[in-house]
Amino acid sequence: MNQPPRLVVLISGAGSNLQALIEQQQAHQTFEIVGVLSNRPQVQGLTRASAANIATQVVDHTQYPTREAFDAEVAKVINTWQPDWIILAGYMRIMTPQLVQQFKGKLINIHPSLLPKYPGLRTHQKALEAGDHEHGSSVHFVTEELDGGPVIAQIKTPITAQDTEQSLVERLKTLEHRLYPQVVSWLVQGQLRLQHDNVYFNDEELSTPLIVT
Ligand code: GRF
Repeated sequence: MNQPPRLVVLISGAGSNLQALIEQQQAHQTFEIVGVLSNRPQVQGLTRASAANIATQVVDHTQYPTREAFDAEVAKVINTWQPDWIILAGYMRIMTPQLVQQFKGKLINIHPSLLPKYPGLRTHQKALEAGDHEHGSSVHFVTEELDGGPVIAQIKTPITAQDTEQSLVERLKTLEHRLYPQVVSWLVQGQLRLQHDNVYFNDEELSTPLIVT
């Protein structure tokens, strides 16, 4: 029997999206998370990985003199796991172009905004301040541009008058736990690819992101 596609997940914190992927793996076994790398020690995501018997590795960015030196170690660790796909799930380090290029086309990220709106941090606050009527999360292929790679899929939620930054954070995370497993399932089934910085879904170029409900 063929081995299932191998995933490496990069985290920096709570790892609730990692948990959603672990649960998907356990339910369907269509992929295997072979390693979880965190740039921060002792985060909850590492505990979640260990509880699921997944190998973990900390590469603490504060211990490296430069971003290049840190990313070289990150690449080394990733390569020891021989992944088919690298999944960024709340990984809070900007990657050097060298690292991105090494894994381009195999690297995806989840970002809490309807990209191209609001790259960077405090996305919920920005959506509120702009008076937006909807907010959401995006999964995109990672390119050299921060939060700028081509978007694969999005999930949306209306913003109500009662919403606060915190309520949006919480609601969006729950939605992300639907969005990310769906995109990963397309990925491991070979339905998605990046070509010349465009996304192809079932061999057709996407003109707009797929919408997950
Ligand atoms: C998510 O909201 C994701 O969009 C962003 O960081 C958060 C990670 O949350 N990139 P968690 O660590 O998966 O709980």
